[in-house]
Amino acid sequence: MGSEIRVALAKGDGIGPEIMDATLELFRHAGVHERVQFVPVQMGREVFDAGDSRGMTDGAIAEVEASGVVFKGPMETPKGGGGKSINVTLRKLFSAYANVRHFRTLPGVETPYSRSGIELNLTIVRENIEDTYGGVEHRLTPDMIQCKRLISAPGSDQVHRLAWRHAKALGLSRVHCGHKANIMKLTDGLFLERFRQAAREYPEIEAADVIVDALCMNLVVRPQQYQMIVLPNLQGDIVSDLAAGLVGGLGFAPSANIGNQISIFEAVHGTAPDIAGKGIANPTSLILSGLMMLRHAGLVRAAAAIENALLAALESGVRTGDFGDKSRPALGTKEFVRAIADRLGSGPKSVSGVAVPEKDGPAPPTPQRPSGHTVIRTYTNVVKHVVGCDIYLDTPLAPSSVAEEMQRIAQETPFKLTLISNRGTQVWPAGSMYTECVDYYRVRFELREGFRPGDFGQSRCVALLDRVAEKFDVCSYELLRVFDGVKGYSLAQGQ
Ligand code: NAI
Repeated sequence: MGSEIRVALAKGDGIGPEIMDATLELFRHAGVHERVQFVPVQMGREVFDAGDSRGMTDGAIAEVEASGVVFKGPMETPKGGGGKSINVTLRKLFSAYANVRHFRTLPGVETPYSRSGIELNLTIVRENIEDTYGGVEHRLTPDMIQCKRLISAPGSDQVHRLAWRHAKALGLSRVHCGHKANIMKLTDGLFLERFRQAAREYPEIEAADVIVDALCMNLVVRPQQYQMIVLPNLQGDIVSDLAAGLVGGLGFAPSANIGNQISIFEAVHGTAPDIAGKGIANPTSLILSGLMMLRHAGLVRAAAAIENALLAALESGVRTGDFGDKSRPALGTKEFVRAIADRLGSGPKSVSGVAVPEKDGPAPPTPQRPSGHTVIRTYTNVVKHVVGCDIYLDTPLAPSSVAEEMQRIAQETPFKLTLISNRGTQVWPAGSMYTECVDYYRVRFELREGFRPGDFGQSRCVALLDRVAEKFDVCSYELLRVFDGVKGYSLAQGQ
């Protein structure tokens, strides 16, 4: 058949091949293979075992770049050694910047909410590349380790724009941004500001925000108040697993990692080594992820038909051993899928089914290989001025001794010592003797009276660093700058 959509297929490890084969069999029944060519690629354990710490071969990378769509089963992350999580590598390598997960009440999947008649239909969009997942970590002193939390304006814009487009397509009336901007005023503050900026394009949809800790409580107490939530990476990771719990667990939570050119669709549970090879694994999460892939590929009709058949099967008590009414027999993976295939063309009765569209959508364009790395930018033509620096010291001295030394060092420079903090809390010139200190200090130098931002560039600050480094162990350094007259740095706690 003339299949016009290519999908790079990685079956995964453990239960991966079993649930992937079953899912593809279901898709074949629904006619998907007439439109899609699934191209097997090598990823996961066999590649790690062969000594490639990327967990994927050059051939697999080439195929992903050619097809632009990846459908993958769960993959083992090697413990210890150099091998990183292939799931994280894939998202970052191919700029799949938004993780979209859809959580809905499924018939036959009992939860405290379904028992109370509460129907859930929630989409979580999580930023997928930045935040602490940049993985930029350093040991700074014998006692202190740092992980840099990176949030960029264009990275936030990408995920917010996608979320708002998606919300409009789904016909939602409200979108929330989850954040912690009350504490992380600059990083989460930027994420929230870019959310509000993206919202301006969609005046018909309400833009709301919620602090992430309150969000977690609200999701447990009254989850039906949320339609879509957009979150930074780490918060989104945690909140999306919480949401999976609301609808029955990770076995029922699909996941799509969407980028401009390449998108990855995967089950969110792991390789389940305890049941691998037994033919009893539940393929629902992978099937649901596959439905997101089919919709992404424009095959909205097949996706709706399969979803309705799945709902009908679940409704009639069809189950694998890990869920459902234990008084009914549990089916193996293959039988479970056959029961769904048998129901193609019908739909559920107790919950709303999915409307089957009259026409399929457009297929996604095949990736256009960029000639070099693309630099994405939001704020351009910004006027920046250096106004000082924060120097981080590795020292066991007390704050008063550090202050004495720093004031001596800064004599006859354009800078004066304005602050010393320890773990972010001010310990000099003011503070409390009850503040316990560790071996890691921030000393802040700012322009003396008589100097103005823009009087000189960063070299004078770097010269100060040199003077400090002659006497102290310096473990890191940040310039203090104003951007279009606005401070680009936070104050210390208690300042
Ligand atoms: P896991 O999700 O594989 O297993 C946790 C429990 O859930 C086990 O009892 C398992 O039998 C059960 N389970 C999971 N999926 C199931 C399914 N489809 N049907 C029935 N039961 C199911 O988590 P675990 O044990 O922490 O991780 C095992 C391996 O999977 C590790 O190497 C881990 O790195 C990897 N992993 C991969 C992921 C991915 O590829 N997206 C995600 C999470 C873990």
